[in-house]
Amino acid sequence: MSPFVRGRLAALSLCAATAQAHLSLRALPLLLAAAVAPPLGAQAEPLAPSAFVVKPYLQIGRNLSPTTLHLLWHTPDESADWAVETRPTSSAAWTRAGAPQRTRVAVAGVTPRWVLNAALTGLPAGGEFEYRLLRNDHPVFSAKALAPKAAEQTYRFVAFGDVGAGTAEQKAMALRAWLSKPDLVVVPGDIVYEYGLVSEYDKNFWPTYNADEPSGSGVPLMRRVPMFTVPGNHDIDNRDLDRFPDGLAYYFFWDQPLNGPTGTEGGPIVPKLTANETNRRQFLAAAGDAYPRMANYSFDYGNTHWTVLDSNPYVDWTNKELQAWVAHDLASATQATWRIVTFHHPGFNSSNEHLEQQHMRLLAPIFEAGKVDLVLSGHLHNYQRTFPMTFKVQKNGAGTLLMGGKDGTRVRGRVVNGRWTLDKNFDGETQTKPQGVIYVVTGAGGKELYDVDQNDAPDSWQPFTKTFVSNVHSLTIVDVKAQSLHLQQVTAEGRELDAFTITK
Ligand SMILES: [Fe+2]
Repeated sequence: MSPFVRGRLAALSLCAATAQAHLSLRALPLLLAAAVAPPLGAQAEPLAPSAFVVKPYLQIGRNLSPTTLHLLWHTPDESADWAVETRPTSSAAWTRAGAPQRTRVAVAGVTPRWVLNAALTGLPAGGEFEYRLLRNDHPVFSAKALAPKAAEQTYRFVAFGDVGAGTAEQKAMALRAWLSKPDLVVVPGDIVYEYGLVSEYDKNFWPTYNADEPSGSGVPLMRRVPMFTVPGNHDIDNRDLDRFPDGLAYYFFWDQPLNGPTGTEGGPIVPKLTANETNRRQFLAAAGDAYPRMANYSFDYGNTHWTVLDSNPYVDWTNKELQAWVAHDLASATQATWRIVTFHHPGFNSSNEHLEQQHMRLLAPIFEAGKVDLVLSGHLHNYQRTFPMTFKVQKNGAGTLLMGGKDGTRVRGRVVNGRWTLDKNFDGETQTKPQGVIYVVTGAGGKELYDVDQNDAPDSWQPFTKTFVSNVHSLTIVDVKAQSLHLQQVTAEGRELDAFTITK
């Protein structure tokens, strides 16, 4: 992006912050179009239009550190030499990264492509750096990006779930995410609709979050900061590759840690694939070692330990080994100030939609013992926040298994009864030390809203729900500091719907 565009955007951001109440959703694209119009005589980056199927995007990779990131991009099915170079400032010399790894994604139903993956190392922790890509020795792409924060540095993340539907609201929330200037982005599941297909990413995801310039139809978020994702039901619950051979694209396009339970098909965390020999072979070749392990993982960013879980109902969270993995993961995060767990299906939810899918409540006692501060979910297309709470699962409480599907053989979750204790003294302003875990649903990131009529019907909310906003799309902005964590829920216009602070 040119300095001119950056300057205009900074001015717009300031304008948006001071005039939020007057800025309508419809006005945003027009304002942005004016903000990003290049000055006369501006030099365009010499791009080769056919070089990319998907332009570069940043990932946390398998072993995140404050000086490393991974850069991925997709190319047509052709042979070309690619290299990546980085430098800390525009006046410094370029340093060439190691040769990118290449994986060919060639599954039925879509045009074959290569996914290239370069490890960026030696980055300036928490600082800005520049990178460029060379194709056959010619520079074809450059961008400025932010390296991960170190433990002593503060940072901002944004979270928005249930997104890739191609709606105007998805694009508006993406623009708000960009204007919020995050260091890190998390999508708590339902990355693309309806079936997690390669073709759905191409249509409804990359153009919105990996656009060339910020506008009302897309933003260059993913090339600037790393985004990590949580697998939702629309991403990986469908395991029928004979019906959807370009499904399970989650395992092709994300580069995230592989430090969770290994899992085997047909076991407690990985359902069986339905795939003929060809579809299975092509899928496994494209997924590599990401399948099936990349569904549960953890990593440290800044002073926070992040734990990502697969909450799809096929996972048996009554399994003691799985529970032990979560407990051990949290207990081993001794260096972290904050512990945030994120998964798609919330255990504590007031929305009439999916009220019965309570299986993740089984982990509440483990979160409490592991000193989890915050749980982020999606699945419900609205915003919900609980009081700080603890939960005792009913004795012998594995809950009641819910079955669904056409023939009644598909697990849909569990109804889990128990007793909760709510901390109603916590107000997030003057009383900021919660007794228990705060559960947030942030699933209003783009897909149509759920249960709008409950917005003004608090009698319909569960007793543990403190705040429930279902009449407008929104996203979560969190500022994480050494001893405090401040969460805001905002609309596309930046209007604050909810806010609270937790202190240590
Ligand atoms: Fe969902």
